Amino acid sequence: MQIPLLYSNGLAIFLQVMNAIITGGAGFIGSAAVRYAVKQLNWNVLNVDKLTYAGNLLSLTEIDTLPNYRFLQADICNAPLMRQTFTDFQPDMILHLAAESHVDRSIDTPADFIQTNIIGTYTLLESAKTYYETLHGEKKEQFRFVHISTDEVYGSLELAANFNPLFTETTAYDPHSPYSASKASSDHIVKAWFHTYGLPVVITNCSNNYGQYQHPEKLIPKCILNALAGEPLPVYGDGNNVRDWIYVDDHVKAIVAAAERGRIGETYNIGARCEKSNLEVVETICKILDERQPICSPFSIPHSQLITFVADRPGHDKRYAIDPSKIETELGWRTVESFETGIIKTVDWYLSHQIYQNHEQVKPPST
Ligand SMILES: NC(=O)c1ccc[n+]([C@@H]2O[C@H](COP(=O)([O-])OP(=O)(O)OC[C@H]3O[C@@H](n4cnc5c(N)ncnc54)[C@H](O)[C@@H]3O)[C@@H](O)[C@H]2O)c1
Repeated sequence: MQIPLLYSNGLAIFLQVMNAIITGGAGFIGSAAVRYAVKQLNWNVLNVDKLTYAGNLLSLTEIDTLPNYRFLQADICNAPLMRQTFTDFQPDMILHLAAESHVDRSIDTPADFIQTNIIGTYTLLESAKTYYETLHGEKKEQFRFVHISTDEVYGSLELAANFNPLFTETTAYDPHSPYSASKASSDHIVKAWFHTYGLPVVITNCSNNYGQYQHPEKLIPKCILNALAGEPLPVYGDGNNVRDWIYVDDHVKAIVAAAERGRIGETYNIGARCEKSNLEVVETICKILDERQPICSPFSIPHSQLITFVADRPGHDKRYAIDPSKIETELGWRTVESFETGIIKTVDWYLSHQIYQNHEQVKPPST
């Protein structure tokens, strides 16, 4: 969208304002993307979200009355509505984050994952393609479909880091869970719409995120909230499965870099070079909580005594680790937050947002 700025001499210059559809913008990462795009980038944002159990409009209260933000409660699988939404909003880009995202739920109820992650992505691609074909000139050149995906599509690395390469953009896909298989499928379909129909897509594959407003079914919030309630901190297996952790705001800035400067048809892996075992993560949270909020009991035990090892998840991937060299060198993106600073921010955020402390307890945790 172009906004004219008029001067007293009658001259006008035009400011280009980005119109962006963000799907899944009431979710954990989507809401961070919406807050950043609306407040920091001044984009016009249309948030398209079905508001499943994972959607949380409280995560958007700081921006939801701003004039450059709109919300549409809708299912991305609704083809006529998605087509109409593209026509009405005339986006310059779409950041597609709507998904079913919880590995354990995908094992119990895979149908939702097939529907939203595969059929939903296909539906959006078709709507975007129909819309893209109506565009001309600069608006057409500028348009991007940015598909946000996960490192889990690459499968599992061995634990001994010395003997294993990291995931790069050319690592073969080898998904193991219904969640990662549905995301892998959607990645392939997105690539097909680029190669076959020339839709200008960019794909990002990111490692595990943490930060504010994450649903309490995921490892880090679950651990914080259970510890505060004096409840067991369930850790899968021996706790040695390794994940590569990135602070959510760093991920969002990487998505924006890929959207604004990424090469069409390319994949960018996003990660913070921060491998930690699940047990290390839980123990770090316990240490921070010991300082912030010692357990009030006659014996004042450390929070780590709440750690409880539970039966492992079926097909639990051992290790994920991303090589982010491509996005760093090509797009100049870098993380701002280290795990040490990011995890303190995150624990402090949950401590100061009491509403989350009453959230339903969902067991066991997911990474
Ligand atoms: N969380 C992570 O660590 C991580 C890491 C890498 C990539 N990703 C990817 O990032 C994206 C966002 O992840 P998240 O953790 O924020 O997920 P989330 O589960 O917190 O949020 C998903 C959002 O999508 C919405 N949604 C679900 N189905 C929908 C549908 N059919 N139509 C419209 N909206 C729908 C939900 O209401 C929710 O607001 C996902 O695509 C996920 O695969 C996540």
